[in-house]
Amino acid sequence: MQALRSAANGPDRPLFAVLNGERRDPPPIWLMRQAGRYLPEYRALRADKGGFLDLVHDSDAAAEVTLQPIRRFGFDGAILFSDILVVPHALGQDLRFVAGEGPRLSPTLVDHALSSLTPALDRLDDVYATVRKVAAALPPGKTFLGFAGSPWTVATYMVAGQGSREQAETRRMAYRDPVAFGAIIDAIADLTVDYLAAQISAGVDAVQLFDSWSGSLAPAEFERWVIAPTARIVDRLRALRPGVPIIGFPKGAGGKLAAYARETQVDAIGLDETVDPLWADGVLPPSLPVQGNLDPLALVTGGRALEDAVARIRTAFQDRPHIFNLGHGIVPDCPIAHVEQLLRLVRGHA
Ligand code: CP3
Repeated sequence: MQALRSAANGPDRPLFAVLNGERRDPPPIWLMRQAGRYLPEYRALRADKGGFLDLVHDSDAAAEVTLQPIRRFGFDGAILFSDILVVPHALGQDLRFVAGEGPRLSPTLVDHALSSLTPALDRLDDVYATVRKVAAALPPGKTFLGFAGSPWTVATYMVAGQGSREQAETRRMAYRDPVAFGAIIDAIADLTVDYLAAQISAGVDAVQLFDSWSGSLAPAEFERWVIAPTARIVDRLRALRPGVPIIGFPKGAGGKLAAYARETQVDAIGLDETVDPLWADGVLPPSLPVQGNLDPLALVTGGRALEDAVARIRTAFQDRPHIFNLGHGIVPDCPIAHVEQLLRLVRGHA
């Protein structure tokens, strides 16, 4: 299947083309967290299957959820339905999602050694099964995106056991005990390379590294815990699976964006909504594909606010390879009609 999907004479895939450096007008579009709670068909399936993790581990259901937004909206990219926290789960932490609160990992690595965990790599097998099912069912012309969290962001959950304010516990640990913390980062990075390589073997066309909390680090720490491990992952993954585009999404990186792009060598860079698109266009290499960066709340608002925000982004990136996306995940109360408005605006038949 993978060989078929990559065939040179296959159908045009606009998102894949832009990831390879082509400019397209209109730009291809997908939305971070496009498979999720704003969709009634997602909520129905989730209610039927029990919890979020049950859904992730039911590969038929997870494949269905991956395809739901493609069927409804015809986005150019489908993102695998899973979560960044399946990697800590495979490294041996227990993982639960508490309704209304979010993820819980135990034991926390702030007070338990990494070496006390027993890896359970078979916990990832259902994800690969999902990838195979989606790859077999995805309509031609669409690009299938796999993903993982970046080591820093994943480590913040492994150390604190949950989402945390300003990632303070993890930042403290990184200063206090860089050797122990570095071992955690390395373990995540090693598994992430294998995990993404296996997603690619199972059928994804490109991958995204989500670094949702990279914005909380001081510059030297950003260099050490975001850029360096990401560069190692990119290097090793590219050696194992050449030709598969890698998107980096260092949310909150701000003024460190250009250094991130240059030093990690990602194939494309995702921008969050706080980045001025004109500024980003000026500081990033002109041939580097960018992805983003609509404010998810402009999408919730719709109407004129959405029109203006879309126009600003399109204008700023008109001369470079650009993938239209949000600056962060779509929020659960986002009206379906506004996603439809966005597609009309971007694809030019408003
Ligand atoms: O983008 C997609 O549609 C694909 C699937 C996907 C999910 N999570 C599904 C999900 C992806 C790519 C993620 C990434 C993810 N997960 C990140 C990085 C990106 C980001 O948004 O910052 C992070 C930090 C997580 C960890 C996580 N997962 C948290 C903190 C939570 C709880 C908060 C929340 O948004 O509900 C989750 C749960 C989660 N992951 C849901 C979904 C659809 C909601 C589960 C539900 O209640 O149905």
